[in-house]
Amino acid sequence: MDPERIAHMANLQRKMLVSHAYRELWATEAYRPVLEMAPLPEDRAHVQQVLVEEMQHYERCLRVDWEYAHARDYYISGHVRMDIVPGVVERMVKGPDGIPPPGSWIEFLLAQALNDYAGLLVLRNVARTARSPPYCPLWAYAGAAEGMVADEEGHGEHGRSLLLREWRWNPPPDKEKEFILLRQVDGAIRCIGRPGTDGDRAAVEYGLKARGAGEVLNEFTEYADWLLGRLYEPAAPPLRVKERARELAQA
Ligand SMILES: [Fe+2]
Ligand SMILES: [Fe+2]
Repeated sequence: MDPERIAHMANLQRKMLVSHAYRELWATEAYRPVLEMAPLPEDRAHVQQVLVEEMQHYERCLRVDWEYAHARDYYISGHVRMDIVPGVVERMVKGPDGIPPPGSWIEFLLAQALNDYAGLLVLRNVARTARSPPYCPLWAYAGAAEGMVADEEGHGEHGRSLLLREWRWNPPPDKEKEFILLRQVDGAIRCIGRPGTDGDRAAVEYGLKARGAGEVLNEFTEYADWLLGRLYEPAAPPLRVKERARELAQA
């Protein structure tokens, strides 16, 4: 592989890893105040568990960075120094464009069911490259992503079941409902990234991710529209996530 191609690939990989590591670290910042909003001791324990897992995910991103730096037997060795921390700090200072900080317990549950789920789909998309031939050159990241998927599935699913209960029995006023819904839907859509950009296409071509952002976005919007249907049934939800994604793509 020619050096220019390697540099391009490494640069794309770095961007993906910085954006992921930032989201993990930002989650621990955005979710920490929720400890005080949790209504029951077991809800507080759930938030605590999420905080521990997100911090561990951040550490695993740093570990991937370290593995690149110490890769000896691969053609990218010597060409790649990810050094992601400055990029992460830059985004932390600029924030919050990753996860809109939840202002209430119910908004946290929405963030879990929407934003965390979007993050899970992005991770699965990276993890899938771990076993697909040809061997993913960026094995360290794909392997780490594979390990995080199970945590995300676990705490995401628990958050979603709490949301379905809380939304029904203890709903916020309608105006607030729509405001927090839109805020978390938009955050989740942003998490998946813009479909069809040069970077998106190249990342698939290099095998850094299994599918383009467009396909991931389709999967997400189908899920999110199903979820909104459940929350608002028997009435119609106030928005269609598929249409919202289209609007944001044109903005
Ligand atoms: Fe995470
Ligand atoms: Fe998570």
